[in-house]
Amino acid sequence: MLNWDEFHEDDAPTAEAKPKTQPQPSKAAAPADDAPSTAHRDSDYQPVESDRLARARKSLEELDVAAGLEELEMGAARIEVDDKKMINARADLNQLVPFKYEWAWQKYLDGSANHWMPQEVNMNADIALWKSQDGLTADERRIVERSLGYFSTADSLVANNLVLALYRLITNPECRQYLLRQAFEEAIHTHAYQYCVESLGMDEGEVFNMYREVPSVAAKSAWSLKHTQSLARPDFNTGTPETDQELLRNLVAFYCVTEGIFFYCGFSQILSMGRRNKMTGVAEQFQYILRDESMHLNFGIDMINQIKIENPHLWTAEFQDEVTQMIIEGTELEIAYARDTMPRGVLGMNAAIMEEYLHFICNRRLAQIGLKEQFPGAQNPFPWMSEIIDLRKEKNFFETRVTEYQVGGALSWD
Ligand SMILES: [Fe+2]
Ligand SMILES: [Fe+2]
Repeated sequence: MLNWDEFHEDDAPTAEAKPKTQPQPSKAAAPADDAPSTAHRDSDYQPVESDRLARARKSLEELDVAAGLEELEMGAARIEVDDKKMINARADLNQLVPFKYEWAWQKYLDGSANHWMPQEVNMNADIALWKSQDGLTADERRIVERSLGYFSTADSLVANNLVLALYRLITNPECRQYLLRQAFEEAIHTHAYQYCVESLGMDEGEVFNMYREVPSVAAKSAWSLKHTQSLARPDFNTGTPETDQELLRNLVAFYCVTEGIFFYCGFSQILSMGRRNKMTGVAEQFQYILRDESMHLNFGIDMINQIKIENPHLWTAEFQDEVTQMIIEGTELEIAYARDTMPRGVLGMNAAIMEEYLHFICNRRLAQIGLKEQFPGAQNPFPWMSEIIDLRKEKNFFETRVTEYQVGGALSWD
């Protein structure tokens, strides 16, 4: 990292300094090298007064600056923290500070510190295992295929929801800053699944089209998509209790259910495989993704709870009942997916154990947004999953990576 204490004037680039990697022009072609270096030398350059230039100047003279900045009032007062709101805010959305929601900014910083790319993971052992005749059982292969099938399009559904439906309706710049980070992370996740499919030499058409072909995968995707469609309508806007509740449904559908439940059967299956020393590259990719996803989930929970605080009239008994029902529906779809992907016991798990795990997860999602747990007594049969998600460990885990990423000053450009 660049430190001002290490900055020496001798090292500073000068006006005539050339980047090392750039080809040096020959002397004949560069008479300026012989000329004294002065920032104020006269120029012989005479711009041509073209018709295009005249038209550009005239257009700029007529520019209505206020209109260009949409509803912004020229000379309007500076933004106060109290002007900021999660939804339906009137404050200027182009100004990031002053922060109101420190949690959103902190998650943006934490997410950025966790940056990773799929190509950094070594896939050689996976390729050998996948190609060997008796490396994996048929049931284990099915789990890898179904996981890549569901996730390869699911992260695109999430990214599209963020960019095409949600972003414009969240009227807070620090939350938007995190949403932009999240959208990029979803692109990295889709990249990771593509990278696994390509590395293993799988039929990419079959994997990427699975959400249209395999019923247990299609049901989950269709359930999520329904909520993007309602908000992405061009005439949709928040501002009434009904439309504000529709936005909350979207947040519950994507953060609590899609990212908070639909990812958990596949994640625990693949991570269980990695713990048994099988498909360790795919499992490592999933581990990075799960760490990102647990932050997405927590960000979504924070947004929902903040909107509830600011708009208590939306959180009616009837609406709470509806949201509870949505989360139970999502849990049922994930249990159906568990049964489809595990017709028999595999990797030390089976559909019945997964059902208890998903009931445990369902209880957590309900409790996180202040709703009553629906499956009393459900325990977590996979405590190692919680260890992987654990935030304190996440920080420790990424400490080495963060250091690696922050040595940009040592990069060689040659
Ligand atoms: Fe993702
Ligand atoms: Fe996500």
